[in-house]
Amino acid sequence: MIGKLNHVGVATPSIDESLKMYRDLLGATSFTEKWAMPEQGVWVCFVNLPNSQIELIEPYGEKSPIHGFLAKNPKGGQHHICFEVENIYEARDALVAKGATVLGEPRIGAHGTLIIFVHPKDMGGMLVELMETPRRRITDGPGYGDRDLSDHLVDRSVLRAAAGRAQLS
Ligand code: CO
Repeated sequence: MIGKLNHVGVATPSIDESLKMYRDLLGATSFTEKWAMPEQGVWVCFVNLPNSQIELIEPYGEKSPIHGFLAKNPKGGQHHICFEVENIYEARDALVAKGATVLGEPRIGAHGTLIIFVHPKDMGGMLVELMETPRRRITDGPGYGDRDLSDHLVDRSVLRAAAGRAQLS
């Protein structure tokens, strides 16, 4: 079932500050846009690495599911790890059949493909996200692209593109 490591999810009180850290301390040079996922209660931005991505998530709205995490970890920290799977429903059914607790129904994630989360109690204490391997790599959309870090503003066209992709999936 388990495929490639897609990304490591990192919660942060400030995506902008985290981006500066990855750029200035670690020399990262490739970042996606920052955009809002209101239905997930997060702002999202990816740091692109040669073999993977770091997904920075910042609370969006008062009901954000990561407020609790940041209350316990005020500076932020590693929040989840994401592996790719071929078929999210098959993965979900296999996990449930083996007694694991899957959180919620499959839904569209930051890369525009279906995701689920598996409860840390079944995953050695780690919150695990599973996402369907994208059928084709999109290089110019949220979650994949590259951008100039000098611009921290959210581009409305990017939000519309993300919403459009979610509807297509
Ligand atoms: Co994630």
